[in-house]
Amino acid sequence: MTNTPLEPTAMMIFGASGDLTKRKLLPALYQLVQDGHAPDQFLILGVARTVMSRLEYQQIAKEALEKAYKKPLEEEAWRRFAAMLDYQPLDFNKTEDFTALRGRLEQAGFHNWLFYCSVPPSAFPTITAQLGESGLNREDTGYTRIIVEKPFGTNLATAQSLNLELHKVFNENQIYRIDHFLGKETVQNILALRFANTIFEPLWNRNYVDHVQITVAEDLGMEGRGSFYEEAGILRDMIQNHIMQLLCFIALEPPVGPWQGNIHPLEARALRDEKAKVIRALRPINAAFLEHSIVLGQYASGQIGTETVPAYLEEPKVAPDSRTATYAAIKVEIDNWRWAGVPFYLRSGKRLPVKNTEIAIVFKRPPLDLFPQPSQPNMLRINIQPNEGVTLSFDAKMPGLTADLRPVNMDFNYSDFGSSGPTAYERLILDAMNGDASLFPRGDEVEASWAWIEPLLEHEIPVRTYAAGSWGPEEAEGLLEDGQVWHKL
Ligand code: BG6
Repeated sequence: MTNTPLEPTAMMIFGASGDLTKRKLLPALYQLVQDGHAPDQFLILGVARTVMSRLEYQQIAKEALEKAYKKPLEEEAWRRFAAMLDYQPLDFNKTEDFTALRGRLEQAGFHNWLFYCSVPPSAFPTITAQLGESGLNREDTGYTRIIVEKPFGTNLATAQSLNLELHKVFNENQIYRIDHFLGKETVQNILALRFANTIFEPLWNRNYVDHVQITVAEDLGMEGRGSFYEEAGILRDMIQNHIMQLLCFIALEPPVGPWQGNIHPLEARALRDEKAKVIRALRPINAAFLEHSIVLGQYASGQIGTETVPAYLEEPKVAPDSRTATYAAIKVEIDNWRWAGVPFYLRSGKRLPVKNTEIAIVFKRPPLDLFPQPSQPNMLRINIQPNEGVTLSFDAKMPGLTADLRPVNMDFNYSDFGSSGPTAYERLILDAMNGDASLFPRGDEVEASWAWIEPLLEHEIPVRTYAAGSWGPEEAEGLLEDGQVWHKL
C-alpha cells in the first residue's frame, strides 16, 4: 500500500446489491473514504440489472453499512461517502448499456476505471466481452483494471477458459484476481518475519523443520450458502485458493525484485514467480496419495459452545444424500531443494470448535536427549486470526534442584501495535488502484493450483463423518508420521 495521492478514479461494482458487496466491499470503501485513503475525486458506481435511482441505492448501501458497523453512521461521514456513491442500471447483454456507461464516465472526467466483478463466474465472460466491445478495456487516457472475485473456475478447464476470456480483452497486468486472505495483515507479516529478519531463515528448511501444519478452522456452518457449497465443497472453497496461498508464503524462496535505490522491493512479478514455483514443486497426486495422504469429512449435528447445531445434510439447499466434504486434512510434499522430505499438513473445516487460522512450524528434536524427559519440539506458531501474533515455544529448565524441563513461550501480539490496520478488502482495493498486483494471484499460479488439486476433485474419496464441534474425523490422526501430533488451537 502506498501513500501516493490517487488520481480521479471511477470504480464500478458489478453485483451492486450482492452479499459480498454489502458485507465487505461497501464497508471497505466507506473506511477508505473516511481514512482519507480514497482518491479525492472518487466515483463508486453500483452497477446491476435492477432499475433503481441513486437515492434508492444509497439507502441500500446505508443499511448495509449500518449492519456491518452494527451502529448508525455518523451523519457527516455518511454524507461524504454518499456524495461519491451512485448507481447505474445496466443489462449485461446490451452493448449499448456499456457504451452509455463509457460515455458517462468520460463526460464526468473519469479516465481511470476500476471494474469489480462481484458476480457469479457464469457472468464473467459476458461482462468482459461487453467491456471489450464498448472500449471499456482501453487505457488511452488513464488506467483500466478489473478485479475478479473468487471462485476463479471450478477446475483446471474452467479456470483456463476464464483466463482465456479475460485475456481476449485485458492484458494480464490489468487483471486482479482476489484472494482476500492475502490482504490480511498477518499473512503479509509472514514475509516480514521471514525476510526482514535473519534469525529464522537459516532454520527455514529441511535441515531444521520437521513438518508444517496449516490450519484454517471455522466454527460457522453454511450460513445460507448451501447451494454454493454443494458445488464447491472444502477443496474448492478453501484449499485450492486460501490455503494454497498460505502454503506458498511459508515455502517460497526470497523473491528478487528489480533493484530500486538500495532495496529490492517485494514487487508483483518476483513474488508471484516464487509462489508459482512452489505450486509447481508440489508432489503430484497419485494412487498412493489418494489412499494415504487425504482425509475428507462432513459434519454431523453437534454442539459448538452451548449451541446445538444441525448436520450439513440438514442445512437449507443441501441434498439429503450429499457427499460434499466440509473438512479436509491433506499431507503434501514440496519436491524442491529446500523442502524435500518435509511434510506440510493442510487442514480446514466448517463447524470445528473455533474460528482460528494458524500456521505451526514444528522443528526437529535435538540429536540426543541430555535431560531425563524427552524435550518438546520447538514450534513457531503464526496466528493469522483471531489472536494475531507469533509465538515461539522452547524448553526451559524449571527452577529447582532437578533437571526438569517445561515448554515456555516467547510471544508477539499484533495488538501491541495498538491498531489493527486496514481490513483485507481495504488493502486490496487500494493496491488495485495503485497498480500493485503483488497480493493478487496471477493467472498461471491459479491454473497451476487447479492442475495440482484436480485429481482430488475427480476421484471418489471416502467422506467420513465428524460431529460438529469436534476437530474433524479421527482418521486425520493417521496422516501424521510417528512422533507428530496435530497442534491444538
Ligand atoms: C471465503 C469462503 O472465501 O472465506 C468462506 O468462501 C469462508 O467459506 C471465508 O468462510 C473465510 O474467510 P475469513 O476472512 O472469514 O477467514
